[in-house]
Amino acid sequence: MDKIVIHGGAPLRGEVALSGSKNAALPILMASLLTDEPVFIRNVPRLRDVHTALALLGRLGVESRWTDEHALELRAASIASHEAPYDLVKTMRASFIVLGPLIARAGRARVSTPGGCAIGARPVNLHISGIRALGARIQLRNGYVEARADRLTGARLWLDTPSVGATENIMMAAALARGRTLIENAAREPEVQDLALMLNAMGARIIGAGSHVMEIEGVERLHGAEHTVIPDRIEAGSLMVAAAITGGDVLVRGAPVEQLKAVVAKLEEVGADIEPIADGLRVSRKGAIRPVELRTLPYPGFPTDLQAQMMALLVISQGTSVITETIFENRFMHALELIRMGADIVMKGPTAVIRGVPKLSGAPVMATDLRASMSLVIAGLAAEGTTEISRVYHLDRGYEELDRKLASLGARIERVKESSAA
Ligand code: EPU
Repeated sequence: MDKIVIHGGAPLRGEVALSGSKNAALPILMASLLTDEPVFIRNVPRLRDVHTALALLGRLGVESRWTDEHALELRAASIASHEAPYDLVKTMRASFIVLGPLIARAGRARVSTPGGCAIGARPVNLHISGIRALGARIQLRNGYVEARADRLTGARLWLDTPSVGATENIMMAAALARGRTLIENAAREPEVQDLALMLNAMGARIIGAGSHVMEIEGVERLHGAEHTVIPDRIEAGSLMVAAAITGGDVLVRGAPVEQLKAVVAKLEEVGADIEPIADGLRVSRKGAIRPVELRTLPYPGFPTDLQAQMMALLVISQGTSVITETIFENRFMHALELIRMGADIVMKGPTAVIRGVPKLSGAPVMATDLRASMSLVIAGLAAEGTTEISRVYHLDRGYEELDRKLASLGARIERVKESSAA
């Protein structure tokens, strides 16, 4: 297993380009199950999670090949298996999103339930009740969701919480259902909108993606399409926080300004200077890091996927900050590692109180999940001395060539092979 070693203190300077969005690419790849014609997807990030998705799709009968560094051709000429096994779903929970397309295309699906994970319980009840409302007969047996339906029928649904994954799963199922589906309190995330664009390019009739109410008029069949995945707003936000904590000056090329409003506002409040440029954002900081109050919310609120990174920044602010995590119940694992680097953080339930300290000191730390790992990288970039981050595979799930991108901005960062597994 690799680890990342960072010698802190170098301000990041220069230009960096974003990769395609992980959380948009994953459901878009799954959408290839909905047609027997080829689909072409560009701007696909080369990530561990993408490789896991391709392995799963391969088992289900989807042939895929890279036609370019970041372009994929996928074809599900026929469905070879309707089962998403435990070994793949436990590696990547987004695998659960094959439930909707499988039941819609093949009339059958057997998908392992994901179980809990490092950031919370993350149940799939809304996925299941949504697909059931479309007329599927669903049983839970031996840790698997078993679903059957001759043809799904459109229905009116209200999601208790605007779940990104449930909205995507239901959208894909409803695209091939008989009649109209209305999803109320749907997730509004840009990744959901990108999936709707892909599905509409395949012949689906979806309106309202990006609003609370989505209407899907089912069609008999979907066809092949081409699509370019949106840039990764979470990668953009992560690099912006990295620029800010090091007092650097970075052009984040391709940053989706519209999708980053909550992040830009919060970083400006913290003391970063952010300037929109023709093709992205320029982020720098000269003054002090100011404390703030921050609450994670569904889009367009501040994303939970940037909470850990912001915490790393606030750890060295000049005052006391309060972070409230409202999306996941256990997403403060990074705090314990930040404390080992000298942070002063007290957690109670969904709230973390962060008293700013003058500096962090490098330490050996362990990544627990993707965004927690990124917060440790950010802390390491600003810390005095050397930080060694183990379990780097978490980072590789969601950040493409992060060490190379940061090194190109002047970070003293290297990846070294660990002799034995942690
Ligand atoms: N929830 C339920 N029941 C459900 C589904 C969700 O109660 O059936 C709850 C969850 O427990 C959570 C909340 O709803 O408290 C929101 O979860 P959501 O379903 O929206 O999350 P997700 O679809 O599992 C995606 C991203 C996450 C991101 C969240 C929130 C992908 C592959 N994953 O997860 O990304 O944090 O939306 O924006 O799109 C990451 O990239 O690091 C990551 C965790």
